[in-house]
This record gives sequence, C-alpha cells and structure tokens, in this order.
Amino acid sequence: MEQNYSNYTDEDRKVWKVLFDRQIDNLSKISSQEYLDGLTRIDFNADKIPNFENTEQRLQNYTCWKLHVVPSIIPVKDFFELLIKKQFPATTWLRKMTELDYLEEPDMFHDVFGHVPLLTNDAYTGFFLGIAEISVKHLDNEYAQELLGRVYWFTIEFGLIRENGNVKAYGAGLMSSLGESKYSMTNEPQKFDFDVKTILNTSFRTDIFQDKYFIIDSYEQLYNCVPEIEKELDAMLQLQS
Ligand SMILES: [Fe+2]
Repeated sequence: MEQNYSNYTDEDRKVWKVLFDRQIDNLSKISSQEYLDGLTRIDFNADKIPNFENTEQRLQNYTCWKLHVVPSIIPVKDFFELLIKKQFPATTWLRKMTELDYLEEPDMFHDVFGHVPLLTNDAYTGFFLGIAEISVKHLDNEYAQELLGRVYWFTIEFGLIRENGNVKAYGAGLMSSLGESKYSMTNEPQKFDFDVKTILNTSFRTDIFQDKYFIIDSYEQLYNCVPEIEKELDAMLQLQS
C-alpha cells in the first residue's frame, strides 16, 4: 500500500489544519520539548498534510526509520515485525469534520502527528526497537503480549516526562488528543515515577481517559531499561508457567 497523496480532499486538508492548529496551541504549553523539536525536524505544519515521501527523507537525517502504510489497526505480530525493521505502521486516512474528537480507531492524525515526531530521537527509537525485539520473541504467548502491551501503553502511547522540573507529555495518545492531553496535566489522574515492574503489573483500559500515568526522567532512561523489561518479563512468564 502507498499513500495516495492526490486523493486528499478539501475536507481532509481542513481537518488536518483544524486539528493541527488546535493541538499545537495546546502542546506548546504541555508537550515535551523534544516532541516539539521533532515536529520542526520533520517539517509538519498546519497547511500541508504530511507527504510520507518527504517525511521519510527527513527521518533519513535522524534515525532512518520509515513509514509503512497500513489500512487500519493491524495484528500485533505484523505490527512488531514491521517495527523491528524500523518501519512504523501508519494509516493515511483522516477523520471527518463531524468526528474531530471521537474516533473508533486511530487515523493519520494519531499515527503521524502523534507518533512520528519522536521517531527523530535515537534513544526513543532505540527503546521502541528494543520492545519490538522482545515482543517478536514471544509472539505466540498471549500473556507476554499483554504485559508488553502495558509497557507500550504507558510509554509510547500515554507517557509523561520530567523536563526542567516540569511534567510534560510525550505519548502519542496524548499528543493527538486535545481532551486527554489537557486532562493528563491535571491532578485528577495518579502520576507515578516510571518503574518497569510496576508498569508490567498495571492493567489499563482503552475506552476511558487513563487514571494512571508514568513519568520518565529522560528518553535515555527508556532506552536503558530495555534489558530490565526483558528480565522482569521473563521472570513473570516463568512464574506463570
Ligand atoms: Fe498509537
């Protein structure tokens, strides 16, 4: 599959612009600086739906990750097998104006605006690759996938980071959601320091705003904890068998 760039409609361009403008205003206050720098590095802006060819050329200057066009959510096995090849699965379709804040499943604003800017960061992509490599070793083990899914969820999708003494957001689920990113900054949800063991033991729901978030100190911390994830995961799998 390829991105058919000439197929985008005026409504698509309008949706991208409205979502981008609205979210960038919000993110300038609450997002990780590294994410905002990533947006600049890959040259995303409100006036142009990203063209994957250009985006990949930009990524070439940083981590050499590529985008792999998918129609919608793909099986976990396919997902992680793409990631170990440094290919990020991304949809190319955009939500309608009538559903700006509610989506049945991730569209391009989530996959591309939410995920791609941090694909310019070496430590972040090293971590991403690391959990993908662990995951492909356990593709037939549902329990292992559930546990790794927790790590993915509380970092890549809904992670928070401490920057200059302030808590900021970096997870793609937050970057692409006006409502949840604002909510994540309030005192309503519980916030914990990042801890591999705790995360592996924390289940989550996908149908509500999170009631717990985990805060990393740096992207290097994520990268450096990959061996610990594998060790703790193996210990939990042993206990279960
Ligand atoms: Fe996502």
